[in-house]
Amino acid sequence: MIQILFVCTGNICRSPTAEGVFRHMAREAGLESAFFIDSAGTGAHHAGEGPDPRAVRTARKHGVSLDGIIARGLEAGDFLKFDHIYAMDCGHLREITRRAPKDARAAVSMFIEGTDVPDPWYGGEQDFEHAYALISRGARDILEKLKEGRP
Ligand code: 4NP
Repeated sequence: MIQILFVCTGNICRSPTAEGVFRHMAREAGLESAFFIDSAGTGAHHAGEGPDPRAVRTARKHGVSLDGIIARGLEAGDFLKFDHIYAMDCGHLREITRRAPKDARAAVSMFIEGTDVPDPWYGGEQDFEHAYALISRGARDILEKLKEGRP
């Protein structure tokens, strides 16, 4: 089983959407049991909360459920548990890399190489749609890559 973790700031908009979308795509491909999928925030301010209603609404519009996802902060143990940690933007990549212990097992990389998924938190409906479109593309690429056994 490949263990993957998506990380954004609050774990209420981008990374829970990535978790839900990836799980949905893996299930459609008959590969749900091949993955352990989770998400976390670099900050824990929203820990214990469900995803932002705007993210839930946007995902639902595309047939993806974010049910059961509860926000949490990134923990030291995540670096030892997960195979891959994906940063939703380059600020997260810096922060995750800074916090990685020397004996980390996880490979840390951008969710989409060279592209940030912009923070929709202060935006409107269209910002959530834009984030969703990028997340959908990123999740598909990651699934393809991992399916083919590429690093
Ligand atoms: P996310 O969005 O990182 O995509 O979950 C944000 C949610 C909350 C905050 C920032 C970004 N915040 O500053 O509280």
